[in-house]
Amino acid sequence: MKVIEVKDYAEMSQKAAEYIIQKVCQNPRIKLGLATGGTPIGTYKNLIEDHKKNGTSYQNVTTFNLDEYIGLPGENKNSYRYYMNEQLFNHIDINLNKTNIPKGDIKDMEAECLRYEDLISKHGGIDLQILGIGSNGHIGFNEPGTSFNSITHIVKLAQSTINANARFFNRVEEVPTKAITMGISSILKSKEILLLVSGENKKEALSKLLNGEINESFPASVLKNHPCVTIIADKAAVAGLKVHS
Ligand code: F6R
Repeated sequence: MKVIEVKDYAEMSQKAAEYIIQKVCQNPRIKLGLATGGTPIGTYKNLIEDHKKNGTSYQNVTTFNLDEYIGLPGENKNSYRYYMNEQLFNHIDINLNKTNIPKGDIKDMEAECLRYEDLISKHGGIDLQILGIGSNGHIGFNEPGTSFNSITHIVKLAQSTINANARFFNRVEEVPTKAITMGISSILKSKEILLLVSGENKKEALSKLLNGEINESFPASVLKNHPCVTIIADKAAVAGLKVHS
């Protein structure tokens, strides 16, 4: 794993955007894996700015998001479909038909899991997957204890994840308790992974990732088994940690 240490959230967002833009320019048909949450918002802002200023085109890019809440239709302001449209897709020239997010509001969710996993395979897999990390080490919504062999599946969210995500809702009771997420094995299949880590509240998770064992009780630790992972982490997240790049 290569670790790039940056000053703060703004620099992390800028560096991450530069990284993605370079990959899109090298391969305009790239399959990008995308994340939601607070961490990538600044990266997406930088992508939009660059698109407006330099005309980087996403017309032929296909995207696959990691996860979606169960029970929220895409029109719901807290759904990840709504988030992606608002934070990125509506402001660049991407074809919305090429943006894929697992659906959280259909009857047969088991079939949706299989459809999504299959869809990614049919597109030849993800070239570059963007990830954030939960303070409990989750990636996607794969909470501690998830099998490293998991493919897209339904999860019950950990209480710590519900509490952490309550900031996007009016009340903690409104946060869905279940989600559909790419599995650990689905994530590991991507050719390259870019993990973004910012803030003091992620310091412990980053420390466990860099210095701990590879174990299903800490999902992100599986990234050590992947041959091409880059971590961009800011000073607040790295402070005092031994970083071997
Ligand atoms: C989001 C996702 C999650 C987040 C993680 C960190 O699609 O899959 O794993 O990346 O919960 O969230 P933030 O960035 O809000 O700290």
